[in-house]
Amino acid sequence: KPHNKPRLEIQDDKPQRSLSYPNTSQPTAQQTPFQQPTQLISFSYNPSRELEFTDSALRYFVDPPLGAKLGYGYERWVRRPEQRGRLDGLVQAFSKARSRDTSSLDDVGVVAWRGVMTKILTSPYEEKEGWELNVMFVNGTMYFEEHLSESRLKEKNDMEPRHRLQSYYGYAFESYCTSDSPTRQMVSSNPSNPMGWGGDVDTNVQWCSVVRTKLGSTRLVIGGEVDCVREKYTHQTDTFVELKTSLAIRGPHDEAKFERKLLKFYFQSFLLGVPEILVGFRTPSGVVTTIQSFKTIQIPRLVRGKPGAWDPLVCLDWGNRFLSFLKDVVKREVAQHDAPTLVWRVKFAPKAGVTVDILDPGGVQDVEAGEDRVGFLPKWYWDELHP
Ligand code: A3P
Ligand code: MG
Ligand code: MG
Repeated sequence: KPHNKPRLEIQDDKPQRSLSYPNTSQPTAQQTPFQQPTQLISFSYNPSRELEFTDSALRYFVDPPLGAKLGYGYERWVRRPEQRGRLDGLVQAFSKARSRDTSSLDDVGVVAWRGVMTKILTSPYEEKEGWELNVMFVNGTMYFEEHLSESRLKEKNDMEPRHRLQSYYGYAFESYCTSDSPTRQMVSSNPSNPMGWGGDVDTNVQWCSVVRTKLGSTRLVIGGEVDCVREKYTHQTDTFVELKTSLAIRGPHDEAKFERKLLKFYFQSFLLGVPEILVGFRTPSGVVTTIQSFKTIQIPRLVRGKPGAWDPLVCLDWGNRFLSFLKDVVKREVAQHDAPTLVWRVKFAPKAGVTVDILDPGGVQDVEAGEDRVGFLPKWYWDELHP
């Protein structure tokens, strides 16, 4: 027995702080289970970007007209500026869900927006873009916040005009595909709008669903925007529809590119339990030419063996290992430093892997004037966890 002790200490002196990039060319042995997500709560952001626990921003799917012009209304776009990936809305919803039902929410391992989880899970196949996260570990739960550097934020806000117009096409497609009521309105309320236009784009307005699920042995609470529901809203995820636009496919090169894109479409929807993805294929100048509906769970089979192939099991296995690794690091360090307000920075570099470091408290939070925070969490939420 005495022999074991020094060994453990050596390990503690050299804690593992990095996780190397997975080998995507090898079939994974691990079949990491992923539990079907169930909705805990939903909420809306109104045009003033205030969070309401209502379904005021919920939209219903309607067939878009073919030939729809996605540049329509561009000059009237009410554009929400890019912001830091704060968790305020999500923890507000999580807190409310917990006050309603404590039973299933006492051992949540991770709270994060869906976009962050998508980035983590798809990283085995990411060859270009790195990402960074801020992480806190409070009462056994890891909170993930996407970290955008000042320059990245500026880049996103000062998008070049062509890129900005292309980004608008996606929102215009959402307008053509949705209505604020379940019954289709045959006549547009404003006769100067084109056929099928669902209203001018305001990207402040969003309807969000918060679900609980489980990856491997980690319970996750994930929030994300849902574009619309088909026919009716069941308070579950079964009628959710994700809308996407993509350039029309003209040859094998475009096809392989689209299949690689399907990886992101797939995980984005899979993580929230969205069963259907509707893609509007468009011309470079933003005219919708065809529409195709994909069943989310069938997408992996579509790409298997193709040039742009990917395997979702590689991603789930990587995600599971990433979460276990990170939890080991933060658990050990929070105990070592006896500092529950620690914030870690996780950095992912394509083809290399991830590293974790404790952030220097001074340079951490980029707290804006008037904000009351502990780490990156709102202070009211922190206080709620520490009665
Ligand atoms: P498309 O995906 O149809 O291009 P989402 O698909 O996640 O609901 O997002 C709606 C639209 O927001 C996207 O429509 C796209 O136009 C825009 N968008 C989302 N993420 C973006 C990003 N990282 N950069 C630029 N535009 C983005
Ligand atoms: Mg959306
Ligand atoms: Mg969409």
